[in-house]
Amino acid sequence: HLEESIRPYIDLIDTLRSAGIHKDLALPTIIVIGDQSSGKSSVLEALSGVPLPRGSGIVTRCPLELRLKKVNVGVNWKAVLSYSNNKIEFVDSSLLENHVHAAQNELAGKGVGIRDDLITLEIMSPDVCDLTLIDLPGIARVPVNGQPQDIGNQIKRLIRKYIEKQETINMVVCPCNTDIATTEALKIAQEVDPDGKRTIAILTKPDLIDRGTETRILDIVHNKVIPLRKGYIMVKCRGQQQIDDNISLEEAAQMESDFFRTHEHFSVVDQILCVCVCCQKSLPQLNEQIKKKLWDLKNELKECEAGPPQDPKGAKQFLIKTLTRFNEEIKSLSLGEQITEDHL
Ligand code: GDP
Ligand code: NA
Ligand code: MG
Repeated sequence: HLEESIRPYIDLIDTLRSAGIHKDLALPTIIVIGDQSSGKSSVLEALSGVPLPRGSGIVTRCPLELRLKKVNVGVNWKAVLSYSNNKIEFVDSSLLENHVHAAQNELAGKGVGIRDDLITLEIMSPDVCDLTLIDLPGIARVPVNGQPQDIGNQIKRLIRKYIEKQETINMVVCPCNTDIATTEALKIAQEVDPDGKRTIAILTKPDLIDRGTETRILDIVHNKVIPLRKGYIMVKCRGQQQIDDNISLEEAAQMESDFFRTHEHFSVVDQILCVCVCCQKSLPQLNEQIKKKLWDLKNELKECEAGPPQDPKGAKQFLIKTLTRFNEEIKSLSLGEQITEDHL
């Protein structure tokens, strides 16, 4: 379901990135936020196809940027993990969890602390699409043993720092079995994005709701309780038991689809509520960026077109200016060549 509803958007970014547009324009990054164990890493995992460390308690203790790069030749799967001054390459995806844990331990200390420092995980594979996602630590309501009293505020500050940027798409993850009205992450997202242009809510764990609350959940999904401009999507990811039973991501996707198709209440859920979420959000912005580039280029072009002024004095000055610029360019070019020669 997640796949179906977000796919058109991912494909769009994918196409833009493969056309090299990211070199000139800022393409959106997807960030997941929510309470601890709400299912953030599971959602990212379902979106990216990359098995991430998940579980109960605080698992994600540093922001983890997942940069997916589609490569069609050379590698089946290759990862490069970078943090502070470390760079680790590996080709066995089953090592991913251990490497991420080790990196977190080094940055945030062993235990339950958090750090702002970013861990970047670049994954190259023919099976991923070009996309950047960020997994953030979840909001802890009550500090656990070994956590500072202000851990909740520390995490909220960290989240705010990351989602403030205009080019992020903020996916707020809320489990169906909790009260979404009290979801702190949703409040933070609404603070930084009051118009709701880049906030989307993901409802997780629909298989764990209390009997009798189905109607209320449906009201939420149909945007009647806390209306969000981009609406809600409901997803079912792997539960702990399924992870322990080694259910693959593909099997889990099939089970998810069966779950919704046969569900007494949720088979009516309109999963396509937010097909255009991100497209709508990022296209006008891209459009603006492109307009600005065009404007700048046109201005530059105008300077060229103007040519030398008609009066002799102005023409002379123009000639000197042009020659000086030409000279400087030649100089910098030959300097560049010298440097490469030195290097060789
Ligand atoms: P995070 O702390 O927000 O990153 O949450 P995780 O993705 O680590 O998930 C926390 C726990 O919830 C894990 O044991 C997951 O297996 C489980 N979980 C996530 N999504 C679902 C779901 O849709 N249904 C069920 N039953 N369990 C889920
Ligand atoms: Na967790
Ligand atoms: Mg997590």
